[in-house]
Amino acid sequence: MNMILLGPPGCGKGTQASRLQEKHGLVQLSTGEMLRAAIAAETPVGLRVKEIMAAGDLVDDDTVIAMLSDRIEEPDCAEGFVLDGFPRTVAQAEALDRLLDDKGMELRLVVEMSVDDEALIERISGRFACVKCKAGYHDTFKPTEVEGKCDNCGGTEFERRADDNADSVRIRLKAYNEQTAPLLPYYRGRGKLHSIDGMADMQTVEKSIVMAMEAA
Ligand code: AP5
Ligand code: MG
Ligand code: ZN
Repeated sequence: MNMILLGPPGCGKGTQASRLQEKHGLVQLSTGEMLRAAIAAETPVGLRVKEIMAAGDLVDDDTVIAMLSDRIEEPDCAEGFVLDGFPRTVAQAEALDRLLDDKGMELRLVVEMSVDDEALIERISGRFACVKCKAGYHDTFKPTEVEGKCDNCGGTEFERRADDNADSVRIRLKAYNEQTAPLLPYYRGRGKLHSIDGMADMQTVEKSIVMAMEAA
């Protein structure tokens, strides 16, 4: 099963994609995580995109498409993947169609997770992650079991994203509405789109996604 999780910043794409990876064996392909790894490693791409991402703007299509197509070449992706944060423009969606076509792979399902703006801001402003293993948490909705200690690896250092500030979030929401939302009619027209209520708790959202997968 190859699928896409589509939705605005903070809607829960990363949270749900990592659950699908753990429980359903799908490889999580997050372009945001790939770009953040490039920034941390100070690669040429990382150095080029650092300021753009911190400001909340989209990285150029060519850079992201090249990165994603390299990753999709790797053998683990043949077992099925869930795209988290890609595609984000119609040009990226068209490139994905061509890429999958060339490989004889099929995109089965696009799940739209809808969450209202107020809840997005609440989710983004409380988010933090373990520095060591990158496990994601939330001050209110998903705190660590023991305060100051990562549930997953026991790490004690946490970080917040450079683009999780009020100004960048406003720009990210605008980028979603203007550049990514046109993907909804794109996939609806191809009979791939399934919309779910992303306002529910994490467990309920997961169930809705699994039901959409079973029906696809
Ligand atoms: P990216 O990393 O993709 O960020 P995003 O789309 O802004 O989405 P987020 O990661 O902020 O949110 P999410 O939906 O993953 O939510 P999460 O699960 O963490 O992209 C970042 C930047 O990289 C872009 O702005 C751009 O510059 C660049 N980029 C990346 N891909 C690109 C592309 N294809 N083209 C061009 N540029 C690209 O959840 C958020 C919080 O809420 C967490 O704390 C979580 O614990 C909590 N939470 C999750 N679900 C629930 C729930 N159901 N109830 C309560 N809390 C919840
Ligand atoms: Mg994410
Ligand atoms: Zn950890």
